[in-house]
Amino acid sequence: MDTQVGFDASAVLAELTLAEKAALLDGSDFWHTEAVVRLGIPRILVSDGPHGLRKVAASDDPSIEHSEQATCFPPAAGLASSWDERLVGRVGDALGRECRVAGVSVLLGPGVNMKRSPLCGRNFEYFSEDPLLAGVLASAWVGGVQSHGVGTSLKHFAANNQEADRLRISAQVDERTLREIYLAAFERVVTERQPWTVMSSYNRINGVYACEHHWLLTDVLRDEWGFEGLVVSDWGAVDDRVAALAAGCDLEMPSSSGVGTQAILDAVASGALSEEQLDAAVRRVLELVARAGEREPLADFDVAAHHALAHEAAAASVVLLKNDGGLLPLDPEHGGAVAVIGEFARTPRFQGAGSSQVNPTQLDNALDSLHTALSGRREALFAPGFEIEAPAADAGLVQEAVQAAARAEVALVFLGLPPSYESEGWDREHMDLPAPQLELLAAVAAANPNVAVVLSNGAAVLTAPLEPHARAILEGWLLGQAGGGALADLLLGRVSPSGKLAETIPLKLADNPTVGNFPGENHEVRYGEGLLIGYRWYDAHELEVAYPFGHGLSYTSFEYSQLRAVVSDDGPKPRVEASVTVANTGARAGAEVVQLYIADPVASVYRPLQELRGFVKVALAAGERREVSIPLDARAFSYWHPARREWVVEGGEFELRVGASSRDIRLTATVELAGGEVAAPLAVDSTFGEFLADPVAAQWLLDQLRRSPLGERVIGTHLGKMLETVPLTRLARFPGATFSEADIREFLGAGR
Ligand code: BGC
Repeated sequence: MDTQVGFDASAVLAELTLAEKAALLDGSDFWHTEAVVRLGIPRILVSDGPHGLRKVAASDDPSIEHSEQATCFPPAAGLASSWDERLVGRVGDALGRECRVAGVSVLLGPGVNMKRSPLCGRNFEYFSEDPLLAGVLASAWVGGVQSHGVGTSLKHFAANNQEADRLRISAQVDERTLREIYLAAFERVVTERQPWTVMSSYNRINGVYACEHHWLLTDVLRDEWGFEGLVVSDWGAVDDRVAALAAGCDLEMPSSSGVGTQAILDAVASGALSEEQLDAAVRRVLELVARAGEREPLADFDVAAHHALAHEAAAASVVLLKNDGGLLPLDPEHGGAVAVIGEFARTPRFQGAGSSQVNPTQLDNALDSLHTALSGRREALFAPGFEIEAPAADAGLVQEAVQAAARAEVALVFLGLPPSYESEGWDREHMDLPAPQLELLAAVAAANPNVAVVLSNGAAVLTAPLEPHARAILEGWLLGQAGGGALADLLLGRVSPSGKLAETIPLKLADNPTVGNFPGENHEVRYGEGLLIGYRWYDAHELEVAYPFGHGLSYTSFEYSQLRAVVSDDGPKPRVEASVTVANTGARAGAEVVQLYIADPVASVYRPLQELRGFVKVALAAGERREVSIPLDARAFSYWHPARREWVVEGGEFELRVGASSRDIRLTATVELAGGEVAAPLAVDSTFGEFLADPVAAQWLLDQLRRSPLGERVIGTHLGKMLETVPLTRLARFPGATFSEADIREFLGAGR
């Protein structure tokens, strides 16, 4: 039978045998779904992701290196620092195109897990410590990829924030923290883009494996957020196949070699699993396969154009942390020798290790790019200074670097994390750069004070040890295959830096919010910091940081003025339109990321001091000014109310804080919102105080109390205040009580 394209899933479902159905819920190898040859249902190919396509050469080959060439865009740690939704959308579009050429139906990304600890070995694959930034950028990425009729896999759902014990660890997180921090980026992408698939993670959440978590995969993901796609397990994440299927994990990947299929068949036979449950999952697999066949494959993509886009994205992702005395940019035309120091200038670290590792179509390095740009104009000297993985400094290499620095007008020192420091599969133990590199830096700076450090690292490193030696620091993260050329552009001022930190750089590891709660023990990790991830923690504890969330300098300067906030639709679901004028007051073109944080100073629950609720990147020519607007919906003001089981806006004043970083707030405005109901619904265990706070219940209660002089003694008295935290049912048992537990239940039952 011919392969069917764009078939009707329901019609096919009706034709399938039980065995065929069960088989469809398992992969056929590492990267393919199962086909039903009898009915012409093809198998489809899925591949990693996220920052480039890793299409393996042979389907039964689990090795990471053997993949076809593809454009390696900046990994999320870099790309997120661009804070540029449109750019990220264009990267997604290019990735989708490459998938169509390669015949890949689903690209396994993006990863939107929060950077809870700076030590997580996979932080380079994740966007941010802030759920709004991660969600907005990931949403743009998914939109770009899926515009090609190629699916995405939003991962790793959920609370997969460390590599240590990642297949067993239980993230112990309260619901409000889950909703506001760890699920929020997933929610945004699902509700805005309907990713074709969501990948359930390896770990457990509050004791239950993500793949078996019915609340997560069905109640929240499908019933609340309206997810219509398929849930696929992370590779090897399924523990109990039947429990996973019942919870909402449709497809097990990779192939379980028949184990999962048999478990499903046995469960249907025993009645533990209904055929309806089976059919729902099979239908989703069929819908995915049908959808994947809707678009024609493409013959090829423009390799040079994609490299150019990778270059543009890399340039936008670099963060200028510091630039004392305007050391950067260097004048490419005039000046003395430039010493390029550090092995990373020649051997770039451009992506992280693990399943996301791309085989790039080409690879730029900063050394060659600088040589080419400076050639015939300024002398460029090179000294590697260190071997990337060497445990100790090499005196000869240091000496050579010092000599180069001494001869030069300026030294560009390329430092970073060796690949062995950070990878999928393990976490870092500290945030330090290797000691030999720090030794080299000190020696170079002693020979030449004009030092600019260029960093390559997938997650934050401590910059405090660099400060005495570096006049400028350019944080390059991991920049993909075109990062070398992009760095040269920034160093030479062809492009002004416009990246901003998507994660805080603390002064020391001991300051970070997860101290004592990372990576956990006995297969459990407590999210003890609750809502206070990243800057929320540093702000709450009034801690100095090396560089705050949202920070990033430019070669030009920006001025903010005329912040306005207009409230529309005031009520339980308010909308506010904020606008601000930004002017480029320097002599160069540049781009600024305008950030809007919201503070809710008076609230009945704890609220972080400020939270990012909107941002916009605006490119301005020298002297240009523009008004930008940042729309704010109800969610921007809401918190999750676990007792009401909904997002609520508590009426009152909110402060809108607009600035160039979380600690460089330039303008503030206050809006007064009516908000909605925030009281927890009264229940049998509600307290005396809670009854009094509810107008109707208070009236009922006062009526009861007034029935005896004893009861009256607690109205508006010191004693009454003391009793506020006592559940009313307990008071009902006190001698002389004027109402019983039955009365309370009757009152609550009467339509309350
Ligand atoms: C990773 C996923 C990846 C999958 C397939 C897993 O180990 O966690 O991110 O998509 O492998 O390579």
